Amino acid sequence: MNRIRVAIQKSGRLSERSLGLLQNCGLRFARSKDKLYWYGQDFPVDLLLVRDDDIPRILLDGVCDLGIVGQNIALEVMREGEERELEELRNLGFGRCRLSLAVPEKSGISSLADLDGCRIATSYPALTSSLLAERGVRAEMVKLAGSVEIAPGLGIADAISDLVSTGTTLRANHLVEMAVLFESSAALYCRPERVPSKKQALLNRLLARLDGVLQAAESKYVMLHAPRDALEEITLLLPGAEHPSLMDLESDPDRVALHAVCREAVFWEHLEALKGAGASAILVVPVEKMLG
Ligand code: PRP
Ligand code: ZN
Repeated sequence: MNRIRVAIQKSGRLSERSLGLLQNCGLRFARSKDKLYWYGQDFPVDLLLVRDDDIPRILLDGVCDLGIVGQNIALEVMREGEERELEELRNLGFGRCRLSLAVPEKSGISSLADLDGCRIATSYPALTSSLLAERGVRAEMVKLAGSVEIAPGLGIADAISDLVSTGTTLRANHLVEMAVLFESSAALYCRPERVPSKKQALLNRLLARLDGVLQAAESKYVMLHAPRDALEEITLLLPGAEHPSLMDLESDPDRVALHAVCREAVFWEHLEALKGAGASAILVVPVEKMLG
């Protein structure tokens, strides 16, 4: 069938942003709360809502063409020795967290070397042991599916390797973050077997829309009035701007209106510098869509 199937997390840290991103690409789904399968209405892309940990397997088995999942989860499967490659098509930038080593507050473990020969509880044993091996540390992995943070207190591990986002979970369990092993964010992955050529055209269209949404998310449209003789300086002060448009101002021949798309974050400091260079009536507005 000439439809693309995308696996996303059913409920959890990535669910809302994953769905929102696809909706921003113009996709609408006929959904029912309890069903795991959402049918694409105006565009032939359907969703499968599953546990995030199952997404790599679903792609490897060819059940879905695409999947949105944390890089940590995809890499765990790769490091387990899976030979086929899950191709990361796009880093989506949200769901940022880090895979860190943490130890009990008064453990006496303070360096990576101290972990040599220790037991480390984690849901990511393959990734953790390979990242540790790269740093010359060999430790024993205790694999737990969840609640990893209680393992040291139970006496089944000396340390943990777990995802940290705000650090609240670690603090609540009197654990201290000792070292960051890996920085992760959500990414779009493709199944390893080539997508049939009929689907490829559809996939390319979806990716073009996705790129538009991702670019727009970090872009701003900036409008301002500038003295003609400061145009060069003002253009240089605009972060990531290409080819600004210039328009005459009827009321003031010495000044022009300048419009530009800034492809990098625009901070108050930028606006203050623009004002300092003579700009006035500075307006920054979000960009919703972008193509070409
Ligand atoms: C991670 C991790 C911790 C928590 C850390 O779980 O296992 O429990 O998040 O976040 P914090 O630093 O903000 O407290 P995750 O959300 O990935 O859930 P899952 O493992 O059940 O998918
Ligand atoms: Zn999970």
